[in-house]
Amino acid sequence: MTEAVRETAPGAVREPVLSVRDLSVSFRSDTRTVHAVDGVSYDLFPGEVLAVVGESGCGKSVTSMAVMGLLPPTAQIGGSIRLGGRELAGASEKELQKVRGKDIAMIFQEPMTSLNPVLTIGRQIGEVLRRHQGLSRKEARARAVELLDLVGIPAPQRRVEEYPHQLSGGMRQRVMIAIAVACDPCVLIADEPTTALDVTVQAGILEVLQSLRERLGTAIVLVTHDLGVVADAADRVLVMYAGRTVEQAPVHDLFGSARHPYTRGLLGAVLRPGGEGKRRLPEIPGLVPSLDSQPDACTFAPRCGRADDTCTGGRPGFRPIHPVAGAGARHRAACWHPYGADEPSGAERPATTGATDEPTAAARPDQEAGK
Ligand SMILES: Nc1ncnc2c1ncn2[C@@H]1O[C@H](COP(=O)(O)OP(=O)(O)OP(=O)(O)O)[C@@H](O)[C@H]1O
Ligand code: SF4
Ligand SMILES: [Mg+2]
Repeated sequence: MTEAVRETAPGAVREPVLSVRDLSVSFRSDTRTVHAVDGVSYDLFPGEVLAVVGESGCGKSVTSMAVMGLLPPTAQIGGSIRLGGRELAGASEKELQKVRGKDIAMIFQEPMTSLNPVLTIGRQIGEVLRRHQGLSRKEARARAVELLDLVGIPAPQRRVEEYPHQLSGGMRQRVMIAIAVACDPCVLIADEPTTALDVTVQAGILEVLQSLRERLGTAIVLVTHDLGVVADAADRVLVMYAGRTVEQAPVHDLFGSARHPYTRGLLGAVLRPGGEGKRRLPEIPGLVPSLDSQPDACTFAPRCGRADDTCTGGRPGFRPIHPVAGAGARHRAACWHPYGADEPSGAERPATTGATDEPTAAARPDQEAGK
């Protein structure tokens, strides 16, 4: 079984709806090149929520914008982005416009900047429907009312005639979600959709996303700094560090037995006794490396208590933690010396680490297919 096809029941297989392979994005200026994303790969399956976490600047938004085809012309993109079998990397703007809003849609952190202040809510939802589905003005208005109802906006008949400034922040975010799902896209990318909202409003927005996934089967990429949101809403988690993917696992495996030292650092403050109240990503000692180069080494080494010459001498591949076919392949990490399942977090790597799930030298390709 390949990584791209996952078993759901005996004999049944599911294809990913979105498949990102070896995605790289760099921004070149006269003075420097920023390698914002470096070899990111993931699959997203129908109806699942994949959370993307990592410190500020690690490339979460750039990855999302690349998938949407919304990066500025200064961005140089490599790799593959397949949506329902169609290649988006390298597609023309005209082709992307046909897909955006219809097959894949995105919601952002601050809805006020995305909504047009001089158009009614109904008009803004209706525009998407008219463009992609050819609905008449009357049909689009009726559908806009249904969509406002779907995202939990009370009195949708009245709200559809209102302007963005007449709505609260939470209601505006619901409108953005209504616009995003208007054409029933198979993939929704939500980049920090609740960060600007207070906690009770956040919970309502997450409920809307969950119900869309259940009712419409929408697959969701959820970018967040909030580990509580990850625990509550995600099926799987992708951890990014300095533009690279360092760990990916089903949510229970990640919280129960993270293997990458960086992930352990992120989770440590939350999982420690007395740390339950912490939801935001904690600070990890040390500095995030510059993105000006792509070292052939583990970029976390300067901050890692387990680092040795192997870590600074070669880039770890993104491998299954248990190098066997089946469920183990769903937990992957890019680390020469990953923690064992039951190994407690600590600054130092044991002198001999053979008892852990550490790969043997023979199983250490620097770059694996499907990393
Ligand atoms: N248009 C651009 N030109 C040059 N560099 C950029 C551009 N957009 C993003 N970057 C750089 O790419 C890197 C990744 O940025 P990105 O916005 O993806 O981080 P992020 O993980 O989403 O962070 P945050 O959690 O703060 O939102 C950063 O170093 C950022 O400065
Ligand atoms: S590869 Fe080495 S330096 Fe990098 S996270 Fe793993 S143990 Fe630490
Ligand atoms: Mg961001």
